[in-house]
Amino acid sequence: MSESLSSHVSSSSTKSARPHVAIVGAGVMGLSIGWRLAAAGCAVDIFEQGTSGLGASHAAAGMLAACAEAEPGEDGLLVLNRESQRLWPSFAAELEAASGMAVDLRTEGTIVLALNADDGARLRHLLALQQAFGLPVEWLNGAEVRRREPHLTSKLAGAVSCPEDHQVDNRKVAAALKIAALAAGARLHEDAPVERVEVSDGRARAVIVKGERHGADLVVLAAGAWSRGVDITPAAPLPVRPIKGQMLSVAMDPAAPILNHVIWAPGTYLVPRRDGRLIVGATVEERGFNTDLTAGGQLALLTHAWRALPTIEELPILEQWVGFRPGSRDDAPILGPSAEVDGLIFATGHHRNGILLLPVTADAISRLILEGETADVIAPFTAGRFARRAAAE
Ligand code: GLY
Repeated sequence: MSESLSSHVSSSSTKSARPHVAIVGAGVMGLSIGWRLAAAGCAVDIFEQGTSGLGASHAAAGMLAACAEAEPGEDGLLVLNRESQRLWPSFAAELEAASGMAVDLRTEGTIVLALNADDGARLRHLLALQQAFGLPVEWLNGAEVRRREPHLTSKLAGAVSCPEDHQVDNRKVAAALKIAALAAGARLHEDAPVERVEVSDGRARAVIVKGERHGADLVVLAAGAWSRGVDITPAAPLPVRPIKGQMLSVAMDPAAPILNHVIWAPGTYLVPRRDGRLIVGATVEERGFNTDLTAGGQLALLTHAWRALPTIEELPILEQWVGFRPGSRDDAPILGPSAEVDGLIFATGHHRNGILLLPVTADAISRLILEGETADVIAPFTAGRFARRAAAE
């Protein structure tokens, strides 16, 4: 932690001395940090360029897929992902109590499918990696998969069951967080784009919105894919870029849903909601902030979904949309204090794991501000890692 953040936080251990915090971004990250801080007695102003909760928080599928999305070489990120996965049930219960609304955490688990021998061989590699990481997963044969999900194709080469990879309705989470943050006393400013963090004598002093200055003791940058667009000079712009994802949803009969588990199939994933929506995602495109729904993108999603779940063919399309994942240079989040500007804290760059990483981010960033402690689990993810790597090269 930077000196000034440390000394500020240690001198603000009583409720009356809590810092005034400006948060840039009212997606799930900004709202959850604002909720936690306001509940602890901080004055909190959350600034959102548009309407709260309508960025990646709205676009996401809400998969809590620490095991299914495990990647080689991402051992450190896996520890963070698993810790946040562990926190989700208590976080959801606390949020539901604070907001008075359900967020639909579903615990049926996730099944990753192989549809042919090639997929099967790839999936065996994933299984070996997951087992080497000690993750709770098991191999299922085709008959067992169909016993659990009878509407899936009969052309199955096997599957991996990830029973701890749950899902939550991210749109409900965003709505609940807004209620909880406002109820705790946070002030939400919508249509309020932060152009710049004012820095003087090496310390963040204010945010500038439409030319107007809003002073604060600390600034949290939680603007997702838009984080790089906030001027934090003299600090370098954050290495965060938008990674476009197209998605769609179809309507199942909520009384007789054709799917209950989250399904990963080659080229797509399928996430069934309690209200009958079936979310189909997602493309991965390096197209900046391009918002086009393309014929190719939608065709690919529907083709892959239909191969895994042929009965999807009859279902009406409800919605098609585009979202932007905040991707960092190493695909891991950027969490904790700036190494260059005192009083500036980052909570961004969550890439494919924003909803999964919500509880650990909210807890660790609010603890950093309230108690001056950087939790061990976020220590590897500070922005300083990029400068250290550049210096070592
Ligand atoms: N985590 C799913 C996605 O980014 O598409």
